Amino acid sequence: MKKKKYKLKIDGFLYLAFIIVVIVLIFKGINAYKTYKYHKTTEYKLITAGYTDKEIKLLDKYLDEKELLALSSKKKDKKLITLMSNQHYLHKHYNDYLEYISLNPNKEIDDVVKTINLHLNYAFYEDTTPTDTSKEYLILVNKYNYLGEDFKPDDLVTISTKYSWGNYGTHTIRKEVFDAFLKMHEDANQNGIYLMINSSYRDFNSQTIVYNNYLKRHGEPYADKYAARPGFSEHQTGLALDIFSIEGALRDTFKDSSAYLWLKDNAYKYGFILRYPEGKENITGFSFEPWHYRYVGVDAAKYIYENQITFEEYYVYNIENKK
Ligand code: DAL
Ligand code: ZN
Repeated sequence: MKKKKYKLKIDGFLYLAFIIVVIVLIFKGINAYKTYKYHKTTEYKLITAGYTDKEIKLLDKYLDEKELLALSSKKKDKKLITLMSNQHYLHKHYNDYLEYISLNPNKEIDDVVKTINLHLNYAFYEDTTPTDTSKEYLILVNKYNYLGEDFKPDDLVTISTKYSWGNYGTHTIRKEVFDAFLKMHEDANQNGIYLMINSSYRDFNSQTIVYNNYLKRHGEPYADKYAARPGFSEHQTGLALDIFSIEGALRDTFKDSSAYLWLKDNAYKYGFILRYPEGKENITGFSFEPWHYRYVGVDAAKYIYENQITFEEYYVYNIENKK
C-alpha cells in the first residue's frame, strides 16, 4: 500500500516535469518562430544593412514597403539619410533629388536640396509655370513663374508727380502698396531723404518695350540680367517699385547713396523687400538692383529681412510648402 502511494507520487512528478518540458518547448518554439519571422522583416534587414532605429523611422516616414525593401538589400545609403534629414527636404522632389545626386555626386546635400527646391536645376526661363495668382501680396513672379498677358491688378491708384518722375498719371501701383510707400516716404523724409519712384506698375506691353530696348542695345545675355521678359516681371503685379531719391535715378551710384543705405535697413518695416540683393543673383536670376523694392506685407518682409533670404526661398518654404 505504501509502495503504491510512493509510485503514484513519482508518476505525478514525472507527469508535471513532462508538462513543464512541453511548455518550455512550446515557448522556445514560439520564440524561435518569432525570431525567424523577425529576421524576414524589412526592419531587421535594414538594421543588418547598418541603419539605426532613428534612421529607420525617418525612412519609414517617407518610403513605402517596396522602397524600404529595396534599400535593405543594399549597403547603407548615408547620402539618403543626410538628404532626408535636411531641414528643407521636400519628399515631392524625392526622384529629382536622387537624379541630381547621381549626376552631381560631389555636390553637398545642402546644395542639392536648395537647387531642386528652388528649381535651379533648370536654366532660367526653362520649365516655366503660370504663377498662382491667388497668393495676392505674396505672389511669386520670377524666371520660372509667369503672369498671363492679360493679368492686371484691379486696385491700381495713380502716383502723383510729387513722388514720381514722368508725366502725371503715367505711374500707377496697387493701393496698399502706395499707402505703405507714403508712410515710408514720410519717415525717410524725416531722415533727410526724399524718395522718388522711377518705375511702378508695368503692363505686359510696357514690359515688352523695356525688355526689347535692352535686347536691341545690349543683346540677350545683358538684357536678361537687367530686365525681365514680358510676363515674367514683378512690375506687372503692381507690387514692385523702382525707388531712387530726388538726386536722380542714378543706377551706377545708387548703391552708395544715403537713400539706399536707409532703404536697405528700413524698407521691411513698411512691407517692402529688396528683391534682387547682391550675392543672390544665382537664385533671383537678376543683377543686384538696389532700387527695386517689392511689397510683400510687413510680416513677410520682416522675416525675409531678418533671415537675409530671397523671396524665392521664402515662397518655397513659408508659402508653397509650409510645414
Ligand atoms: N528689372 C526687373 C528685373 C524687371 O524688369 O522686372
Ligand atoms: Zn524694378
